Amino acid sequence: MILYESCGWRLEEMASRHLLAVAALEQEIAHAPWSLPMLAEELTLVGCRRVLLTPANELVGYAVSRLLHDEWHLLILGVAPAFRRQGLGRMLVEALLETARSAGVGETLLEVRASNVAARQLYESLGFVRIGLRRGYYRHGPFGPEDALVLACCSAK
Ligand SMILES: CC(C)(COP(=O)(O)OP(=O)(O)OC[C@H]1O[C@@H](n2cnc3c(N)ncnc32)[C@H](O)[C@@H]1OP(=O)(O)O)[C@@H](O)C(=O)NCCC(=O)NCCS
Repeated sequence: MILYESCGWRLEEMASRHLLAVAALEQEIAHAPWSLPMLAEELTLVGCRRVLLTPANELVGYAVSRLLHDEWHLLILGVAPAFRRQGLGRMLVEALLETARSAGVGETLLEVRASNVAARQLYESLGFVRIGLRRGYYRHGPFGPEDALVLACCSAK
């Protein structure tokens, strides 16, 4: 289902036909990538999953979130390296926050690597604030085990 179109970008609900491309991009860009079976299972759970496509149907971004205890949890987010710094990551997260608002979900939470400057700046610019720290949460990464910052954004209207 197409949710939004702007400047040629198309935001769609993630469906099984997108999973191979999402898994390939996740493999390329994530430190601990989700596998195809993990992504497929996610589609069976209550959540909000989006993909961003070019007019030629090329996958350039994705966001997967789950509804847990009345909160959205943003689990994975990615934009293909060649398409970064064009506002696509922002578009994906804003769309999630808008969905949370419309659904009356109070808070959106996520974890981010302490070293992930790009993602931290993106989240901060959208109103996320730090509410916690999980020491050594990420076992593998560019610098070995790494802390996670827990960020939250109030989605209430
Ligand atoms: C994080 C990520 C999704 C950002 O996607 P993006 O499409 O490049 O982000 P946007 O173009 O929407 O950027 C929005 C804002 O985020 C910040 N930002 C994005 N990339 C940045 C970078 N490399 N350095 C510093 N700030 C950055 C800026 O504030 C930017 O606003 P500006 O361009 O007006 O300065 C992308 O870098 C990515 O896929 N990274 C690998 C996967 C990942 O880290 N996912 C998040 C896991 S928690």
